[in-house]
Amino acid sequence: MSNADGLGTLGIMPPAQLAHEIRRFRELAPGRPLAVNLLVPFLRRAHVRVCVEGDVDAVVLFFGFAAQAVAALRNAGIMVLHQVGEVTEARKAVADGADGLIAQGTEAGGHLRAVYPLRTALPRILSVAEGRPVLAAGGVSDAEGVRELMDAGADAAVAGTRFLLTEECHAHPLYQARVLGARTTLQTELFGFGWPARHRVVPNAATDRWCASHPAGPRAVLAVNNRTPRLGSAVPLGALRTMAVLQHPRAPLFGPGPALRGMPERVVDATALYAGQGAGQIRSVVPAAVAVRQLAGLAPTP
Ligand SMILES: Cc1cc2nc3c(=O)[nH]c(=O)nc-3n(C[C@H](O)[C@H](O)[C@H](O)COP(=O)(O)O)c2cc1C
Repeated sequence: MSNADGLGTLGIMPPAQLAHEIRRFRELAPGRPLAVNLLVPFLRRAHVRVCVEGDVDAVVLFFGFAAQAVAALRNAGIMVLHQVGEVTEARKAVADGADGLIAQGTEAGGHLRAVYPLRTALPRILSVAEGRPVLAAGGVSDAEGVRELMDAGADAAVAGTRFLLTEECHAHPLYQARVLGARTTLQTELFGFGWPARHRVVPNAATDRWCASHPAGPRAVLAVNNRTPRLGSAVPLGALRTMAVLQHPRAPLFGPGPALRGMPERVVDATALYAGQGAGQIRSVVPAAVAVRQLAGLAPTP
């Protein structure tokens, strides 16, 4: 992504692995900007240290606040962006010292803090950004979508689902195929064991079975999930992968780990198929550089 003039972002992973991936990025994209995404529920001090030692350009925080981490990163000259879902979160991010905000709309795939679609969320968040740059995330799949957001005042667009559907993504190929063929997405809390939170997914056997009468999931399952946030932040991130492989659509104990390449095919019906509302408009899996060029309007979107 960064080689194609996007801002490539590494997701959260165990700190030692993150350090390795930062070094790998430097080899693959020398001199290019690198961001690291840190999900606050899983954030450790070591993540901050690795970002500082790796001299990354930007850190994106999401799903909570970590004022000390913001200060440490900014003191090291790292730009801190905070993805937020609403005005109260935007104000808190500004108070913590964030250099910029990412306004998330409910169209977004994956975990959601958004409560409004972007057409409502963006102006609200812009109004409290105090001049900081505001990027917009949710449902963007092509250059027209990017242009619309920028016309509405965003400084840039953030795309997740478009990059899920790239050749470099580690998602299971069947997960990618389900997203490509998706006619609809669902906002649920089903895959919340260890991280009880709203998320947008493409339906699969697990959601067909457990979300038919209530999209969030059965009350009893949500009650169990709601007791587990400490568990999620205490176990190593790698455990999510193990749990994903053990899940079964008939057993309503679903963690947030996604279906990754190399896992058995059956996991696609028992794990969260995170994707945004733009999924239906994306026609093919392409190299990440092509996706960047398409979003920038420099290559045609088929
Ligand atoms: C497969 C997938 C994984 C995601 N993982 C993360 C993540 O690790 N951290 C994060 O801050 N946001 C994550 N997001 C959410 C994005 O930050 C962003 O809000 C969203 O992708 C924008 O909507 P879009 O998917 O419609 O482009 C993820 C989204 C998807 C689809």
